[in-house]
Amino acid sequence: MKTLTITRPDDWHAHVRNGAVLKTVLPHTVRQFARAIIMPNLKPPVTAVAQALAYRDEILQAIPEGGDFTPLMTLYLTDSTTPDEIKKAADSDAVHAFKLYPAGATTHSDSGVADIKAVYALFAAMEKHDIPLLIHGEVTDQDCDIFDREKLFIDKHLADIADNFPGLRIVAEHVTTTEAVQFVQAAGVNIAATITPQHLLFNRNAILAGGIRPHYYCLPIIKRESHRLALVEAATSGNPKFFLGTDSAPHLTSLKENACGCAGCYSAHAALELYAEAFERAGSLDKLEGFASFFGADFYRLPRNSGSVTLDKITWTVPAVYGVNEHSIMPLKANEALSWKLR
Ligand code: NCD
Ligand code: ZN
Repeated sequence: MKTLTITRPDDWHAHVRNGAVLKTVLPHTVRQFARAIIMPNLKPPVTAVAQALAYRDEILQAIPEGGDFTPLMTLYLTDSTTPDEIKKAADSDAVHAFKLYPAGATTHSDSGVADIKAVYALFAAMEKHDIPLLIHGEVTDQDCDIFDREKLFIDKHLADIADNFPGLRIVAEHVTTTEAVQFVQAAGVNIAATITPQHLLFNRNAILAGGIRPHYYCLPIIKRESHRLALVEAATSGNPKFFLGTDSAPHLTSLKENACGCAGCYSAHAALELYAEAFERAGSLDKLEGFASFFGADFYRLPRNSGSVTLDKITWTVPAVYGVNEHSIMPLKANEALSWKLR
């Protein structure tokens, strides 16, 4: 049997939620990854170190017996974040980054930043205290086509942030376009990007052709095929600026299959399998380890993991749903076959 063994990987972008959903989804992330950057977009958002520590405790409690997992906490940047909180975060061993959501860009982003220029003093504090800034890079202008929001964010904001803060480590989260790939490639070593499995595997036909498929709807929205090809090329290039971040974003099935469905694909149940499929199709399985296990840790200046995980080349069928009390979450590729399986 064909197998693939790599150093234990990390997920550099995960939504694990809290409460009952956390209990369902965290075991999946723990099985797949040694560490994960935990997104702070709870309701209310995690904006202070004290809150992050409490959330971290809730996550630690939800780790199944025998699990070996470290949550890497982040803080949600708001208009009222203080330079003092940034210093506190940088001094904390538990908090590893700030997340910038433009207000209204995505799920639970209403407390995000309305005027990006107005928080430049906070970027300066992050640069000074050397704590990374993670960016959801989409403009929120209602007159901007949803498929162009990432590109416009780069032109209007990201290029200027990069120019003004050359020492600030920035992760362009879940990049989805050729333009974002080119921007990151051309930028300094302080700028990197995460790429999700859904943006490597699918183009926008998956959402819209032959019927509306809400479980493929996430933000930034999946783009056309030429962009997918650029993402695959970047992820499999061996360029350390591109690393794994699933953006696994669970929502109850009833909130996805809805007249106004929530954005987010749930992928933690089969994250490595999905990436392995994308890398294998590109003929680049040998590049998966750097992308999944080395480059993110190096960027965050954390030690690489020891130990390994093995995937077997076996066909299996993804479950239809995962239960959350009387509710459910439908995973990416529900009821469909995958050709790799994490041992
Ligand atoms: C995320 C969520 O549901 O929290 N949704 C998504 O579509 N990716 C928010 C985000 O990361 O944009
Ligand atoms: Zn996300």
